This record gives sequence, C-alpha cells and structure tokens, in this order.
Amino acid sequence: MQVFNSPEEWRSFRHQIPNTLELGFVPTMGNLHAGHASLYKKSLQENDRTIASIFINPTQFNQRGDFTNYPRTLEEDLALLSKLGVHYCLLPDEQSMYPDNYRYQVQENKQSMLMEGEHRPGHFNGVLTVVMKLLNLAKPHRAYFGEKDYQQFELIRDMSSAFFMDTEIIACPTVRESSGLACSSRNNRLNKEQRQLADQFANIFHQDLPAEQIMAQLNHLGVYVEYIEEHGQRRFIAVKIGDVRLIDNYPLP
Ligand code: PAJ
Repeated sequence: MQVFNSPEEWRSFRHQIPNTLELGFVPTMGNLHAGHASLYKKSLQENDRTIASIFINPTQFNQRGDFTNYPRTLEEDLALLSKLGVHYCLLPDEQSMYPDNYRYQVQENKQSMLMEGEHRPGHFNGVLTVVMKLLNLAKPHRAYFGEKDYQQFELIRDMSSAFFMDTEIIACPTVRESSGLACSSRNNRLNKEQRQLADQFANIFHQDLPAEQIMAQLNHLGVYVEYIEEHGQRRFIAVKIGDVRLIDNYPLP
C-alpha cells in the first residue's frame, strides 16, 4: 500500500493513474473495525484500485473534547488496510486539509437540520465540507459510505448530485456485533455493564413496535433517548449510555 502524507504529493500521483482504471474510495476517521472493513471489501470487489483516507476531521466535532479524545490507532489501521489489499492511503493533516482555515464551507439547509444536525450543531457542515475536499482529491468513480450513518450517506449522495460531481455514492449495509449492536469505535468506550445495556438497546430498537413503546422500554432500562424519529420509511435513533452516544437506524417494513 502506498501512503501519501500530503494532498500535493497525492495529487501529482493521481494525475498519473491511467483513466482506464476504475477507482473506489472509502474515507474514514480511523480506529477501523469490521464495519469499515466491509466498505473496503466492497470497493476492492467493484474497482481496479481502492483509495483509503484516514483523517480525524476537527470541523465535524461540535465538542473539542470529542475531537481530542477520538481514538488514534494509526499503526493498526494501516496494517488492516494493507492486509485487505487497499492500494493507496491518504493521511493528510489539518493544516493541509484546511489551507483556507475553514473559510469555505458546504452547507445543506434542509435534511441537515434534522436529527444528528439538530443535536450536533455544525456537524454536517464539517462532514460535507471535508467529504467534498476528499472527493476532489481522490476523484474516484465510486465512494462508499455506511448505512450506519444513514443521514450522512443521504446528504453526501445528494451533495454529489447537486454539485454535478462525477462520483457515484454507494451505501453499504450496517455491520453488527453478534448481539445486533452496530459496530462503532464508540463501543470500545463502554464498560462491561454499559456494553450489556447497549446490546439490550439494539434488541429493543429492532422490535417491530411503535416508536413510543420502544422509547418507553429504553427509558425503563435507564437508556437516555435523544431522539427516535421516522423519515422516508426509515426509523432513526440516538441514545446516550453514560457519556457514550450511540446511533442506529433501519428501514421500516
Ligand atoms: P467514520 O465514523 O470513521 O466512518 C467511516 C465510514 O464507515 C462511514 O461511511 C460510516 O458510515 C461507516 N461505518 C461506520 N460504522 C459502520 C458499521 N457498523 N457498518 C457499516 N459502515 C459503518 O463517518 C465518518 O467517519 C466521517 O464522517 C467521514 C465520512 C470520514 C468524514 O469525516
């Protein structure tokens, strides 16, 4: 795997990749788990070359502490990407990604106001801006995003279309632990009791019941529900277990 530490180094290399090769791209913030791996596997199957990026994007964290505490496991992440057969990995730093000091931002004014956007002000401006920058750098034919963050996936898909970008945005199913809990780097922050609660949360959320009943069962367990909402035939939830915030969603039957 070839690693690129600066956008400039990557851009001069990118110009030399023949047009005949199809490129897949999977951006992440690192601390890779089985959910991320599934995106890389799909990209590797569907493209001639796969590009990864690991960039912990400061502008999408609405609390500075979350950014500073974000798990940094670069060595393990690079080992996993190499083992999977990923061809290129971009590792830009904050300065090189934001030469404009975040003067320019991509903003969506409808869907991004709901759910995650409502509870994490500025979050989607940060996500859309960094993804636009990363897509412009990678110039892939296809880019892969997890349904685990479904609202994020839809906003990125619609951004690509709104700005006539040449990248097809592809959704990949949520990968879950055997308990049904969606894989997430945040799961590592749960202690043993909280982890049991998180497994119960996943089970309760996946019942075929009205949202009010799910909410009541979770409250009864002591799981704080930030929101449970339905949009476009999909049910979305965000909860807090201790100070760990978990999200999930699934299509309604
Ligand atoms: P990150 O949280 O690292 O996630 C990277 C990608 O992995 C996202 O598309 C996310 O939806 C997907 N993913 C995470 N957990 C998953 C699971 N259990 N099953 C399937 N896919 C999963 O999302 C981000 O980073 C950032 O916002 C980013 C898009 C990189 C922009 O900074």
